[in-house]
Amino acid sequence: MLNSISNYKYLTVKTLLVLLFLSASLFAQGFKFVIMSDSRGHYNGVNDPVLSAFVNDIVENHKDVKFILFAGDMINGSWWEPNKTISQIEHWKEVMAPIYENPNMVWPKVWPVVGNHEIRNRNDEDNYRKAFQDVYMNGPDDEKGLSYSFDFGNAHFTVINTDRWYYGARNDTTDDHPAWHRIHRLDWVEKDLKAAKERGVKHIFTVSHEMAFPVGGHLHDALPNLGRGLTLPLDSARTEHLEHRDNFWNLLKKYNADAHLCGHEHTYGRQTIDGIYQIIAGSAGAPLYHQNPKYGEETKDTVLYREFTYAEAVPYFKALDYNYGPQKNSQRSEDFVGAIAFNYVIIDVQDDYADVVSYGIFPKEGTADQIADDYKIVVLDKFRMEKKK
Ligand SMILES: [Fe+2]
Repeated sequence: MLNSISNYKYLTVKTLLVLLFLSASLFAQGFKFVIMSDSRGHYNGVNDPVLSAFVNDIVENHKDVKFILFAGDMINGSWWEPNKTISQIEHWKEVMAPIYENPNMVWPKVWPVVGNHEIRNRNDEDNYRKAFQDVYMNGPDDEKGLSYSFDFGNAHFTVINTDRWYYGARNDTTDDHPAWHRIHRLDWVEKDLKAAKERGVKHIFTVSHEMAFPVGGHLHDALPNLGRGLTLPLDSARTEHLEHRDNFWNLLKKYNADAHLCGHEHTYGRQTIDGIYQIIAGSAGAPLYHQNPKYGEETKDTVLYREFTYAEAVPYFKALDYNYGPQKNSQRSEDFVGAIAFNYVIIDVQDDYADVVSYGIFPKEGTADQIADDYKIVVLDKFRMEKKK
């Protein structure tokens, strides 16, 4: 009898130890998530063939992915018909159904991020909130459901709205306008990152539709928001925009963020600025863009959207402190790696590092928004982000 009791105790202790070991191993295994964005197109506002190709690939070939962050511009949207925007979002959800029905992923499976195409009419923010209720309502008071944050495993995610409608009194209809290309509640972002750091999270990812350092197609807007037809020196409004962008990036440095994840430019691009990665996973179907023109490139391609010739881009390069001139890459950082292809990115978050793989499909020849019937998904880029102490 004594023996069986001590055996029982031994087994219980052993079982507990095994459970502890298993949970520790599970935690140490980290987790994978996807960042993708910009799926707008001609099928009720969505590029069904490209988005479906990626969705099916994720479900069939990456069963260990836990969730998707979708960084905005999922649909075309509409300036004048908010009901059209609602119908396009519903259609987008239908194309995303294999993800929503995927038992391998965890709630809410898709974390949505506001893009400028979702917010074109004064009713759009309210409609967006109704369409995407499965998010945490922990953002700033005036951006509940549009900005929010969450922890997963050893990581923190801060989802930031960069494309608001009129920013001010919500009942003031005299001055309706989009308030895009800006983080209106940088105070909330700082509070959120500070709290995450104090909780002791290992990794921090910020996510928004727009990028801090445009790489091609949106040199005139994104967070620097310099506007078209730039001349130097910068006026006070543009100087303020740049300072605003810098204030955001300084927060990422201060709280030792791993990366800022975004879309808006329909291309793939990654680089480090002051040791922080910016990763653009910018087209799950939206028409592909050229990247910033290099020295000697004076043409604007008619198939892939290029906003400026090299000469037109130079004032922007100067204002943004990019590398320009002969043999330079026309980007902010020398370590820029890019690809003009539809793409999505998987990030495998481990304890001291995160492995990143970008998967892509090159467009059908002579097109910017189509893929061939026999398309192939290829690895565009692969790298490791070491966690800085
Ligand atoms: Fe956009």
